[in-house]
Parts: sequence; C-alpha cells; structure tokens
Amino acid sequence: MKKISPDTKSQLVEIAKNAQKWAYTPYSHYPVGAAVLTESGKIYDGVNVENAAYPVTMCAERVAIFKAVSAGERMLSAIAVVTKNGGAPCGSCRQVMVEFNPEMVVLVADEEGHIIEEKPVKELLPGYFSPEYLKK
Ligand code: THU
Repeated sequence: MKKISPDTKSQLVEIAKNAQKWAYTPYSHYPVGAAVLTESGKIYDGVNVENAAYPVTMCAERVAIFKAVSAGERMLSAIAVVTKNGGAPCGSCRQVMVEFNPEMVVLVADEEGHIIEEKPVKELLPGYFSPEYLKK
C-alpha cells in the first residue's frame, strides 16, 4: 500500500467535499463526492449522477475513476469518498477500484472532513474477481 501523506489525504477529502455540491440526486437526495489520486499526482473528482430510470444511476467513485482512466491514467493510488454520514463505497465501485489497483487506499469521510475509515480496497472486497482469471 502506497504511503499517502496526511496533507494529501486532507486535500483529497477537501476536493471530494467540494465536488459533492455538483451531485445530481433528485431521487435519493444523497449526494456523494469522490476524488481519486493517480500515481502521477493528479486528482480527478466525481459525483453521483442519478436517473429517472433508477438503475442507470452512476456512483461518484466510478465517475471519478472513469474520468481518470479516460484521461490516460491507469495507476490509481487513493480515493476519498465524502457523504453526510460516512457512507461506504458500494460493491460495484469496489470491483472497479481493484481493477486499477488492489492496494488503492480508500478514505471514507463525512462532510466535516473526518476520515472514518481508511483501508486498501483489497481488504474491502475479499475474494474479488481479478484480471488474472481471464489469462489463458
Ligand atoms: N452512491 C454512490 O455514489 N456511491 C456509492 O458507493 C454508494 C451509493 C450513490 C448512488 C445513489 O445516487 C445514492 O448514492 C444513493 O444510493
């Protein structure tokens, strides 16, 4: 697990918190903000984007990760997730995280910026499906 400095952790949480206001949540009223740190030191934010066809909704964590990947980033070191009550990332988001780095540090924080949980994603999704299984 890559060591992330306390300053970088605070910065990630702050960026996720700032992004949270852009969440599109007319149905759940549960805005989520995320910020992912790349190995190269860049940060991409994301918010949840809901839809009237409920299952089409996309989580904040995946929006942030997909923004990073679509900008050419593959190695992701950490991700911060901010909600009003320290909600944890869902299983689908965990699976997307392990794809890019099982050691990715997941910081779960509340709106006051308090980090409630901090763990590598591999510990949040034991027995995850990995690209190894697809090798011939
Ligand atoms: N949500 C996220 O953005 N990330 C998660 O990991 C869990 C749930 C969103 C989806 C939906 O817009 C709202 O939170 C309530 O489920």
